[in-house]
Amino acid sequence: MNIIEATSNETIDAIKRDTSAFDNYIKELKQKIAEGNVIFYGAHDGNSFVGRVCLIRVPEEQVVRDILPGQPALVALQINESARRRGIGSQLVTAVMAKARSLGYQKISLGVEAGNQAGKSLYEKLGFVYEGHNYESCWNEPDGEGGLKRVCVNALLMVKELG
Ligand SMILES: CC(C)(COP(=O)(O)OP(=O)(O)OC[C@H]1O[C@@H](n2cnc3c(N)ncnc32)[C@H](O)[C@@H]1OP(=O)(O)O)[C@@H](O)C(=O)NCCC(=O)NCCS
Repeated sequence: MNIIEATSNETIDAIKRDTSAFDNYIKELKQKIAEGNVIFYGAHDGNSFVGRVCLIRVPEEQVVRDILPGQPALVALQINESARRRGIGSQLVTAVMAKARSLGYQKISLGVEAGNQAGKSLYEKLGFVYEGHNYESCWNEPDGEGGLKRVCVNALLMVKELG
């Protein structure tokens, strides 16, 4: 498995295609990558991309910035269903932690829904701990009628010490 940092639009588009990412999501992402606020990774199995994740240097939610000032977040981890339980999610999260460490950050956070057992187990295995706060995490999704709808979930804040 190759974990690839997507720096060109070509690679970003290939990850989008192979992992079925939404158009509007990738449009916003390209802007954030160009601004230097997001580092985007794809997991490539030799034939196609099977997963993706982002390191965001300034988290979007004010509450997260207040609790962990100056620290980045891991967002949008997604592995294609046919590629799950092969350690690829763990490899992507490990790559993001290594990048954050190399950029000099002390901690990295993420939000996970209470009912997401797979995500919670993966993050716990990699040393993330519950910080004790819940917050509303929101994003835009296609509404099926050509527009966008705002989707919000209640997320548990998890933190990993990078030291
Ligand atoms: C959560 C997700 C990213 C895990 O990716 P993955 O590549 O399958 O994870 P890994 O193979 O690295 O699993 C690492 C560990 O996580 C835990 N885990 C992963 N999937 C699990 C599941 N379905 N049920 C319970 N534990 C699970 C296990 O402890 C696993 O270790 P093991 O296989 O040795 O038992 C994947 O299921 C996914 O994309 N889900 C939908 C999107 C999502 O929930 N993203 C996270 C948002 S916060």
